[in-house]
Amino acid sequence: MAKSTLSFVCQNCGAAYNRWQGKCESCGEWNTLAEEDTSGSVPVSIRSKRRGRTFALESLTGKSNDAPRLSSGMTELDRVTGGGFVRGSVLLVGGDPGIGKSTLLTQATSMLARAGHRAVYISGEEAVAQVRLRAERLGLADAPVQLASETSVEDIVSTLSEGAVPRLIVIDSIQTMWTDTVESAPGTVTQVRASAQALIRFAKKSGAAIILVGHVTKDGQIAGPRVVEHMVDAVLSFEGEGSQHFRILRAMKNRFGPTDEIGVFEMTGLGLREVSNPSELFLSERDLGSPGTAVFAGIEGTRPVLVELQALVAPTTLGTPRRAVVGWDPSRLSMVLAVLEAHCGVKLSGYDVYLNVAGGLRIQEPAADLAAAAALVSSLVNAPLPTDAVYFGEISLSGAVRPVAQTSARLKEAAKLGFGRAVLPESARGEIGSDGGLTLNSVGGLTSLVAEIAARGTPRGNRDTAREGVTEKNATPTRFRRENS
Ligand code: TYD
Ligand code: MG
Repeated sequence: MAKSTLSFVCQNCGAAYNRWQGKCESCGEWNTLAEEDTSGSVPVSIRSKRRGRTFALESLTGKSNDAPRLSSGMTELDRVTGGGFVRGSVLLVGGDPGIGKSTLLTQATSMLARAGHRAVYISGEEAVAQVRLRAERLGLADAPVQLASETSVEDIVSTLSEGAVPRLIVIDSIQTMWTDTVESAPGTVTQVRASAQALIRFAKKSGAAIILVGHVTKDGQIAGPRVVEHMVDAVLSFEGEGSQHFRILRAMKNRFGPTDEIGVFEMTGLGLREVSNPSELFLSERDLGSPGTAVFAGIEGTRPVLVELQALVAPTTLGTPRRAVVGWDPSRLSMVLAVLEAHCGVKLSGYDVYLNVAGGLRIQEPAADLAAAAALVSSLVNAPLPTDAVYFGEISLSGAVRPVAQTSARLKEAAKLGFGRAVLPESARGEIGSDGGLTLNSVGGLTSLVAEIAARGTPRGNRDTAREGVTEKNATPTRFRRENS
């Protein structure tokens, strides 16, 4: 008889311990250990001593009957998956509750069903009537999607094994699924892992593509399904600020495609609308002519995206000034601030610094350094930057502005959106094929850009100039005087 093995499993990362403890040593989370029976994580039938059966080995050049990829009919979704759903692959779509995962996947299954493919939507969270209601709101009630409200993995697998192989199966969500092979409660790590394993096995065997929906905890980790991340072929994360309509689908892992592409959607009353030109959307609510904003010409995957960086530099009342950043890497902000202090004579130690990327986009490129620096200095000296300029370039620790990739794509996008000039690294000039008619303002070092912005500046009220012990008249030059001059 199989011995019952009770162990304490971290519900965040899946690490198992013999005894209870307050903190998981593997992921550092507190109070995440729960008692689970892990004896059955391998089904008894598999654990029995049976002789292995032989199987045929195949060559790489085998033929598959069907196109390996199936386009979802949604360009933005295809862009992130790398061109459509791969047969027999399993995708995990994670995101905060209410962000629109069910909406997105209802739309995707409906599109496929309308195109004549067998598409199945299994909801473990909502009743059939609720899913129908959503489909009605989306105007998709007529799509021949096969719908069920089920949570037993065994039942789902037997049902779907009958008839034609479904091309796409959506499981909403993996946390609600349970399998007979393990005894833990639904939602525990052991159950989630075993259910995912069973579904992945079914996908590989049948050739159906499966999408697992996973909920995300507050700190951005997919709870429970985090242990599933390494088992699936692709992990997509659906992000967005609750108050804004933009939604961004981002590939975190993809065995069949790139991981730097993003898909942009807008949540409307009629579901998610694809946004094929994100720059227009991100710049649509621009606050023209106010100090502290700079437009960054970035690249997301293969596509240029223009987005506004907003900075606020305000005198601090705290002993340690605040540095807060949304949508960008905080350590890069610290680096840019350090370079501004060390090489450009910009004193920021008495100021709180806030930086925000408009539209809820998360920028990962170092090319945003120059735009961030321009926005920061613009806010500090209270001088609006030219409204028709875009900025890009990486700043090195020495204060030099370094070239970045895909200069001409960035310039072309800026020209398309009606910008008149670009502030870019000096050494990039050689690589520019066509500048799209933009005036190019190349900078070799950060110092010259800072001086240029400072020259436009109007000194602020007495309060902050007095703080530095400089008079209004020479406020700007003192603030930007180089250490050695
Ligand atoms: P949903 O897809 O249920 O989110 P998730 O599955 O990620 O939890 O979306 C829920 C939110 O989306 C809800 O707050 C309402 C909003 N929504 C719209 O704004 N328009 C729509 O057409 C639909 C279907 C939902
Ligand atoms: Mg949902």
